[in-house]
Amino acid sequence: MPDQAPAYTALSHPDFDDLDYSKLDNVVAVMAQKGGVGKTTLASNLAGLAATRGDRVLLVDLDPQGNVLDELALFENPAYDAGWGLREAVLHGGAIDNLIKDARPGLDVAHGGINTRSISDTLVKQKQREFERQLRGQGFELPGPAAGEWYDDVLDVPDEIDFSPVYHARLALTLARTLEEAEKNGRPYDLVVIDSPPNEKEIQLNIMGAARWIVGATMPDFGSIRAVREIIDMAAATEDGAHQVEMLGVVLTGATERMRNVKRSAFDAIEAATGGQRFKSQVPGRPGVYEDVPLIIEHTIRWSTATAQIARAKGKLVYEIADEHEQRQPWYKAVREGRKDSGPVASGSTGMAGDIMDVATELFHRMHTYNFDKADYIGVSTEISEEQK
Ligand SMILES: Nc1ncnc2c1ncn2[C@@H]1O[C@H](COP(=O)(O)OP(=O)(O)OP(=O)(O)O)[C@@H](O)[C@H]1O
Ligand SMILES: [Mg+2]
Repeated sequence: MPDQAPAYTALSHPDFDDLDYSKLDNVVAVMAQKGGVGKTTLASNLAGLAATRGDRVLLVDLDPQGNVLDELALFENPAYDAGWGLREAVLHGGAIDNLIKDARPGLDVAHGGINTRSISDTLVKQKQREFERQLRGQGFELPGPAAGEWYDDVLDVPDEIDFSPVYHARLALTLARTLEEAEKNGRPYDLVVIDSPPNEKEIQLNIMGAARWIVGATMPDFGSIRAVREIIDMAAATEDGAHQVEMLGVVLTGATERMRNVKRSAFDAIEAATGGQRFKSQVPGRPGVYEDVPLIIEHTIRWSTATAQIARAKGKLVYEIADEHEQRQPWYKAVREGRKDSGPVASGSTGMAGDIMDVATELFHRMHTYNFDKADYIGVSTEISEEQK
């Protein structure tokens, strides 16, 4: 057994050295350490909205809960495999080959589900094996289960191995190859949106290792606001020389303009949690001129339980529900004409859709490389009346 401290080497591999991160400039991930703060709703609607004007968008669901499938009603799709294809692609750094094409015109989905849960376990095992291999190579004896004990001493994998691109850049490799393939087929993507799980460190590290932009999601409660800090710190830890990852903004769901005090104190708490971090944003209409703006996105997304419930029940996005609401004939007309009433609609959907469009406009404006304005939306509910606000 050597008497010097062990030395660790981050594993390297030419696949990762050659990774061209500029291909991933338009990859944006919605993240939060807390569950249930509106990540999936935001990610799906951002992706869907971007596709409405004819852009090609890839939505990647890396949450084992697979809620993007609910948002877009994709369970019956022939390509559905509960995330197996995505799992295989990420673990082997290959292109994703079982995309659900045109879930909406122009919107392809790399769908997740229960099979993606084992991505984390597999990566942890691979890191542990590599760590132990290096220790043995240096003559260290490793602890094993002592006779009669039910536990084993587990050695913590050091940061050098934890943050090695070989482990945290698998998704980056997969996405780069998927985008390359799409380009070769003459159908390049304009935007990639990633939905992420709460509290799944290995998957989150991979998302940070692939995304150029991170959107933090939170509700007005201080627990979820505090958790935004963890996302910011994690992004800083995964950044390496080749890969740049930046917080694009923090989106607050669950506070309306009318809830002035709630919004104000949530904004103050977010300002504190983000350490007053600013975003260098291009001044509208003045290319090349930038201003420092708070990380928090000024527009917030209101709470509308009925809208969210109907959206998931129907597998439709919020603005699609709003469009349905706008186009719906009054029930008495339907009855008079002998048709069945079209079922529940949410009167709050127009307001919530408008909020999401405002948030999308602000976020995409910050991206520099991808721009979408709510005026680009091709649907019914572009005009939101004062009374619906
Ligand atoms: N603005 C809103 N108003 C009302 N309900 C909402 C709103 N946004 C989301 N919801 C609902 O709240 C629940 C959680 O939202 P969502 O799934 O988007 O959060 P999440 O952060 O992705 O959760 P998880 O961490 O479990 O993945 C869902 O049932 C969703 O339909
Ligand atoms: Mg989710």
